[in-house]
Amino acid sequence: MDSADFDAQEEKARAKLSPGAYAFAAAGADDEITLADNIAAWRRLRLRPRVLNDITSIDTGVSVLGMRLKTPIMVAPFGRHKLFHPEGERATARGAAAAGAVFILPTTSTVSIEDVAVEPATAPRWFQLYLPPARALTENLIDRAAAAGFRAVVLTVDQPVYGSSPRAARSPLAPSPDIRNANLPGQPIAQNSYQADYSGRVTFPATWRDLEWLVRRSPIDVLVKGVLRGDDAMRCVEAGAKAIIVSNHGGRHLDATLATADALQEIAAAVAGKSALYVDGGIRRGTDIVKAIALGARAVLVARPVIWGLALDGSQGVRAVLDHLRVELVRSMALCGAARLDEIGGDLVTRSNGL
Ligand SMILES: Cc1cc2nc3c(=O)[nH]c(=O)nc-3n(C[C@H](O)[C@H](O)[C@H](O)COP(=O)(O)O)c2cc1C
Repeated sequence: MDSADFDAQEEKARAKLSPGAYAFAAAGADDEITLADNIAAWRRLRLRPRVLNDITSIDTGVSVLGMRLKTPIMVAPFGRHKLFHPEGERATARGAAAAGAVFILPTTSTVSIEDVAVEPATAPRWFQLYLPPARALTENLIDRAAAAGFRAVVLTVDQPVYGSSPRAARSPLAPSPDIRNANLPGQPIAQNSYQADYSGRVTFPATWRDLEWLVRRSPIDVLVKGVLRGDDAMRCVEAGAKAIIVSNHGGRHLDATLATADALQEIAAAVAGKSALYVDGGIRRGTDIVKAIALGARAVLVARPVIWGLALDGSQGVRAVLDHLRVELVRSMALCGAARLDEIGGDLVTRSNGL
C-alpha cells in the first residue's frame, strides 16, 4: 500500500477485484443517499479546538467492555472476506490484532470461528450475530464464539429483510465454490446481500423478545448494532444490552435514513451515560473520530476502508489502514488540545460552520 488516501485505495482495489466483489463492498441501497450522507454528515460538523493545552503526550487508549485497548478504532463486521483476499477473515483478524483493534467477525464469515480465534488467541474479538429463525443454530454460534475467546456478541437488528441495490444488481457476485459460509455448514453463500424484488420473506426475524432471550442465554456480553433512535437505544439498554452501536449498516439496506453523525447526539442524550455507545458509517478521517467521540461515542467502527486494505495487501493492508487512521486521530487530538480521549467533550464540535 503506497497511499494513505482511501479514495485512491478504493480505485486500486476496484481494479483488482471482480466487478461483483467490488460492487458488493461499495454499493448502498437504492439511490445511495445514506451511503453518501454518512460521509457528508461528518464533514458538515466543525471543530472548536482548544489552545495552549499540554499535548506533548497523546494517549488514544480506551476501556471497552472491561478491556483496555490502545485504539478506539474497530473493524466493523462485513461478510465474506474471501471475496477480497484468499486468506479471508484470518488476514483481517491478524491485521486488526497487529493494530491493537477490536475485530468483529461476521456471522457470514468465510473462515470458521475457531480458525479466526487463533489469529492470535489473545486479541480482542467480538462475534456479529444475525438471529436466524432456528434458536439451535444461534445457540451453536454463540457458544462456539464464547468458547473460542470472543468477548461479546454483536446482534445486528437493522436488516430484518434485504435491501435493494441497483448498483449491486448490475454486477452480481459469482463466488467460487471454496467461498463458503464457514460458520453455517451446508448453507451456500448468497449471490448477494441485496434483493431486487421484495419477496416478503423476513430474513432475520428478530424482535424485542429475542433480544431479551439472547441476553439471558448468551455466555458473553450482548451489544446491539443498527440503532438510529434514542428510544430504541434506551429499550436495548433496558433489555440488557451492554452497549449500542449507532449504525445504518453503511447505507446498505434502508436508504434515506439519518446519517449516523446526525443520529448520535439524540441517542447519547437519551441513553445519558447508562450504556457505552459506538458508531459507524462514513468514518474516514481522524477528525471524524474526534467528532464522533465529542458527540458521545466511545469508539468507532470502520468497514469499507478496511476492505480496500484487505484487498490490496491482506493483513498488512488492514493494519496499514487502521494505523493510518490512528495516526490521523493522534494528530487531530493534538491540534484540538486533547491529550486523552476523555478530554474530547461536546464543546469541541459544532454544527455551525459560520455560513
Ligand atoms: C461489504 C459489506 C458487508 C457488510 N456485512 C455486514 C454484516 O454481515 N453484518 C453487519 O452487522 N454489518 C455488515 N455491514 C455493515 C458494517 O458493519 C458497517 O455498519 C458499515 O459498513 C460501516 O460503514 P462504512 O463502510 O462507511 O465504514 C457490511 C458492510 C459492508 C461494506
